[in-house]
Amino acid sequence: MSMESASPFASEDFQSWSVAQLAQVETALDRWVHADMPAGLGVAMRYSVLDGGKRLRPLLVLAAAQAASPATVQAAPTEAMLRAACAVELIHAYSLVHDDLPCMDNDVLRRGKPTAHVQFGEAQALLAGDALQALAFELLVPDNGSLTDAQSVRLCRLLAVAAGAMGMAGGQAIDLAGVGRALSQPELEDMHRRKTGALLLASVCMGAATVPMPPAALAALEDYGRALGLAFQVMDDILDVTADSATLGKTAGKDAAADKPTFVSLMGLEPAREYAHALLATAHAALERSALPSRGPLHAIADWVVRRTH
Ligand code: IPE
Ligand code: IPE
Ligand code: MG
Ligand code: MG
Ligand code: MG
Repeated sequence: MSMESASPFASEDFQSWSVAQLAQVETALDRWVHADMPAGLGVAMRYSVLDGGKRLRPLLVLAAAQAASPATVQAAPTEAMLRAACAVELIHAYSLVHDDLPCMDNDVLRRGKPTAHVQFGEAQALLAGDALQALAFELLVPDNGSLTDAQSVRLCRLLAVAAGAMGMAGGQAIDLAGVGRALSQPELEDMHRRKTGALLLASVCMGAATVPMPPAALAALEDYGRALGLAFQVMDDILDVTADSATLGKTAGKDAAADKPTFVSLMGLEPAREYAHALLATAHAALERSALPSRGPLHAIADWVVRRTH
């Protein structure tokens, strides 16, 4: 039986589920990231967040939040879920703005558009990233009662740990320190788990934190998120080699050009693909272990992460 046919969620169902969820995410981002900020900063923030990106992290938040519900397909996300989904996307968008800066990857193309610093200048891009990060946490401490204090604390903690020195920022530091150095597989895995995996794992955990979730199911979801998070960056490394810039919406081939340590440079293309598929199987197995009634979207997201073309 193929992995797709093992999915308890037909691909048309996933398609319609994700279209409906993403429409809500786009509306919420448009509302929460407004243009009316000093000196054009809001324009640079909106440029960096709206109209682009696969929105994988928000989808993971919403899928995890709805996995425990008996009727996923009809479910509309609550404001609590949308706040968590948008917060993690804002952190992601900020990380991309900074990742593209001349002092980091020095990239000119992102989501099919000129990068933020090309469009607005380095200082404004840096500040847009800073402000997006702060706004992410502001979304998690609403004054309208849409999150309980306990939920706010838990969500802020999950996001802060994932974005900070032990997570994404630390992983980015390892990435830059690794230029021109051959990392061992454990070192590379550690870097990927931090720079990319941490935020994907946090997306799953944040979604779960917006609803009641049995502890055993949460532990299984965490295993799912860890495997998926690593698989995602392995695929990012593969696509950097196999896809073109137009498809990716960002410069292809730049890892090798910048002598970055990647799973492709470490193990070669085919073994890297096999590794991504092994991680997919691990993610699916963990999800089955969760026994959550509406795990179909999470299953389909994992398939998509490993089979994606951009
Ligand atoms: C790109 O992430 C950067 C990494 C963490 C590998 P995505 O591939 O999710 O980028 P968007 O959000 O779709 O643009
Ligand atoms: C970036 O990794 C991870 C982040 C934390 C932004 P990459 O440098 O490989 O991401 P891309 O390929 O530029 O999107
Ligand atoms: Mg980078
Ligand atoms: Mg980069
Ligand atoms: Mg990359």
